[in-house]
Amino acid sequence: MESITVGLAERSYQIFFGAGTLEGIGIACASLSLGKQAAVVTNPLVGSLYFQPVQRALVEAGFQVHRIDIPDGEEYKNLDTLKLIYDRLIEEGLDRGAFIVALGGGVVGDVAGYAAASYLRGISFVQVPTTLLAQVDSSVGGKTGVNHEKGKNLIGAFYQPLMVMVDVATLSTLSDREYLCGLAEVIKYGVVLDRQLFDFLESHAERLLARDTECLLKVIRSCCSLKAGVVAQDERETGLRAVLNYGHTFGHAVESLTGYGRFKHGEAVAIGMVQAAKISEAMGYGQRGETERIVALVKSLGLPTELPEFRAEEYAEALMHDKKVKSGGINFVFNKGIGDFLIARVTDLSFLLKTCGIGG
Ligand code: NAD
Ligand code: GLY
Repeated sequence: MESITVGLAERSYQIFFGAGTLEGIGIACASLSLGKQAAVVTNPLVGSLYFQPVQRALVEAGFQVHRIDIPDGEEYKNLDTLKLIYDRLIEEGLDRGAFIVALGGGVVGDVAGYAAASYLRGISFVQVPTTLLAQVDSSVGGKTGVNHEKGKNLIGAFYQPLMVMVDVATLSTLSDREYLCGLAEVIKYGVVLDRQLFDFLESHAERLLARDTECLLKVIRSCCSLKAGVVAQDERETGLRAVLNYGHTFGHAVESLTGYGRFKHGEAVAIGMVQAAKISEAMGYGQRGETERIVALVKSLGLPTELPEFRAEEYAEALMHDKKVKSGGINFVFNKGIGDFLIARVTDLSFLLKTCGIGG
């Protein structure tokens, strides 16, 4: 099995990946000096598909397995769901030696990760991501948490897993729409961090859309290496890690203006990346034709590029409510052409809006 190390001194861990790796989860956990009790947190959909092989592998490796189901959906990434997990962990009598296995997409990973961070002041956990977004982004780097009614991810902790086990075979059951959302985050890595990855995505769009295993493994390997590198340098997002928010400024505005119902996060990020590319070009970063390439790649991977119609004042208000707004300015991630980036404070909202064609 291939692996990549997330280098964080005593909190370093491996991301294993391949096709069919779920079978190896028991042996991999056994190598981590964990206790014997494993609580697998999943949801009914993912659990119906992948709990059994994970359970079998863990039991064969000598673990006792407890299944904890949480409801499926971003709307359940909240304190009620967290309490449901704590209740079950307590009912099952799990002590500090127990560990959590987060089996699912980013929602399961974020909630289960925070349960692990906080139960008995912290127990071990491993990530078994089953969406493309979770495999290339959310399972790596230790951001865990839940939403509050006042905003997304307002409660949480940086808490690293002991291991990430990526099984690309699980992507075969993912809906087309969720799969494409993961591709949006993949494009993000190419645009701001890796020109070669961007070139690869351009030349392999069809194979990626067909979920070709070899192609996916190459892409996941690249994204996880890039994310591991960023996290190793800036675990708590004091600077560099903000690069992973590329496209998210307008993306979050689009999500919030449309009430989180019309666009999925990855679709909103795709639209946001197109706006960020236009703004970056208008600032003089990069060369002619690069924005067109970014827009073309987003389109060819079946993602939206057009901002939904709202008034300039509505966009301005949504942009100013983003978490990345500090003392009146937006911490904006620009792409410098393809493969490089710059993070800078933007205070002139009208420039952003005008460049994106908002408000005439
Ligand atoms: P998700 O977890 O809601 O999963 C999307 C849907 O796919 C769900 O219905 C899920 O049940 C289903 N699913 C998962 N795996 C499947 C499979 N293999 N086959 C069939 N269906 C499957 O969404 P997501 O896009 O994975 O994650 C989004 C969440 O991730 C958001 O809450 C976001 O805030 C968070 N996130 C966290 C980080 C981080 O660094 N922690 C980074 C990015 C996003
Ligand atoms: N997805 C953003 C981060 O992990 O920092």
